[in-house]
Amino acid sequence: MNYFTLDQLSEINSGHDHPAKFAVIGDPVAHSLSPQLHQPALNELKLDCRYIRVEVPEGQVNEALEKMYAAGIRGINVTVPHKLEALEACHQVDPAASSMGAVNTIVFNAAGQRTGFNTDGPGFVRAIREEFGMDLGDLRVIIIGAGGGAGRAIATQCALEGCPQLILANRTLEKLTPMREELTRLAQSEKLEGPRDRIEIHSLDDPILEEAIGASELIINTTSVGLKSSDPAPFPSHWVEPHHLVYDTIYNPSRTHLLRDAESQGARIANGLSLLLHQGTLSLEHWLNKDAPVDAMRQGLLDFLKA
Ligand SMILES: NC(=O)c1ccc[n+]([C@@H]2O[C@H](COP(=O)([O-])OP(=O)(O)OC[C@H]3O[C@@H](n4cnc5c(N)ncnc54)[C@H](OP(=O)(O)O)[C@@H]3O)[C@@H](O)[C@H]2O)c1
Repeated sequence: MNYFTLDQLSEINSGHDHPAKFAVIGDPVAHSLSPQLHQPALNELKLDCRYIRVEVPEGQVNEALEKMYAAGIRGINVTVPHKLEALEACHQVDPAASSMGAVNTIVFNAAGQRTGFNTDGPGFVRAIREEFGMDLGDLRVIIIGAGGGAGRAIATQCALEGCPQLILANRTLEKLTPMREELTRLAQSEKLEGPRDRIEIHSLDDPILEEAIGASELIINTTSVGLKSSDPAPFPSHWVEPHHLVYDTIYNPSRTHLLRDAESQGARIANGLSLLLHQGTLSLEHWLNKDAPVDAMRQGLLDFLKA
């Protein structure tokens, strides 16, 4: 097994020269690429420690965090399905993570108190800068699949950045109404520039979607449509025009149907590898309070995906 269970936490260091200090929790967790991202960074920084995976059943996150701190773990990544439970198990939560309703990074202080962050939104800002050389806050944005966890984090970040247009689209429209209210409250309370109370919401079958896409500069796919190579695009991809930037949060496959079509129509495209990378660089920076070795982390991911 490439992960530990809660019952095995007392043995995480037996037979190892380097202590486990960082971990990802999830259920399942065996597939998580976080070790491929973080171990090369710890090695590059010459920190004498390991990054491990720990499988935590739903409902046991608080107990797991206590046990992991006692076992010497000092920084945690959180993956599906624990991001809300992790938020509730933190002593302090970064306000942006509260608005996103999810914590994916936990820092322990010397007394074992936990502070929660969400690096998916800020990681997306770095990803857009790296991929397209643009600031997210300058772009007119549409998010396809805004009702999911990744969509909500990115939508919140767009509001925080003051994007001049924010259109949210989702198969299940009902999920977007409370999200729009929350984002509008956030924009007003933080006195944010940008769409404020002009956040539009549409279902994926709304006839106005074509026009909404046409009016956007950055199209983001945060649906899971595309994870299978045989999946279609999540909306008619002939709506993509050469002026568009198209970001698909999916990175495996590296080119979804949407990205292939968008590229052939002259749009600039990027896949979700840069988001995966930068949510990780920001986690590491929260734990260590120093710049992450981005190139080592990127290489770790690329080596694994190539293999
Ligand atoms: N690059 C990265 O680091 C990164 C990080 C996180 C997530 N992601 C990607 O983001 C995507 C969403 O992940 P998540 O964690 O946000 O999942 P999630 O919370 O389960 O959300 C899934 C989203 O996909 C939509 N969806 C699912 N099946 C659909 C279909 N057949 N047609 C239209 N919409 C459909 C859902 O719509 P409903 O609300 O209607 O169900 C929802 O908006 C995945 O592809 C994942 O790989 C990438």
